[in-house]
Amino acid sequence: MFNLERFDIKLNTESIGRNFVYTQEIDSTNSFLLDKSNKFSVDGTVLLAEKQNKGKGRNDRVWYSTKDQNLTFSILLINKKYLGKKLNIINFAASLAVAISIENNYQIKTELKWPNDVLVNGKKIAGILLESISKGNKVERLVIGIGINVNQTLFQGNFKIAPTSIKFELKEQIERERLLAEFLNNFEEILNKLNSEPEEILKDWKSRCRLIGEKISISEGTNIKYGIFDDLDNEGYLLLKNKSTIEKIHFGEVSIV
Ligand code: BTN
Repeated sequence: MFNLERFDIKLNTESIGRNFVYTQEIDSTNSFLLDKSNKFSVDGTVLLAEKQNKGKGRNDRVWYSTKDQNLTFSILLINKKYLGKKLNIINFAASLAVAISIENNYQIKTELKWPNDVLVNGKKIAGILLESISKGNKVERLVIGIGINVNQTLFQGNFKIAPTSIKFELKEQIERERLLAEFLNNFEEILNKLNSEPEEILKDWKSRCRLIGEKISISEGTNIKYGIFDDLDNEGYLLLKNKSTIEKIHFGEVSIV
């Protein structure tokens, strides 16, 4: 059982998570917050569920998470200051905040994998899924869905990258309330740099990405491209270098070759 009081004491944010909704079971926290008919319209609302029946991962995959063990939650952003052209950077802000929170709280070294996986010892500890609704060419509603493997130690299924959890790495039970509050505190702090210093967010993200400079493959469906992971551009797209050409990559699964 998630202890709301313990969480609340540690939350230091101005807006993110101040409207906090906790539920035992839901299809997907992302789908629920994205759907306007559910009438959530406070910027920064966080919806945490103990169990998702249709948890969504990237690329139409399923996000598996055992009830009561982990953190599966979504954050709603509707304030215009966040919804300009910088959605990619929000993605990086979220994965960076997860990495920093895990490192600071548990002294576990994390690594970031483009576009937004958080890894520990080469295994996936957290994933992020951004979804949005637009009117014309304007984003109206943005939902950042985050799954962090906290206390689950048995993982069943086929995974592209093997999963791990904080408990699996540390061999001790983790207080989810403290981790969630820390994450939201860090996320809001990083998000505040979105308009003033987005390059700082990218710089910090890149400093935790081991693959920059390495030979990689990027697959999107059956299409595979090879090259050197040269850099990220200032919008967060991956720059793939091949001989003298540089291609900007928008989506795909990166692997080292
Ligand atoms: C990934 O594939 O790496 C992204 C996983 C995102 C999972 C989270 S759990 C909370 C939120 N609700 C969902 O349905 N998905 C995201």
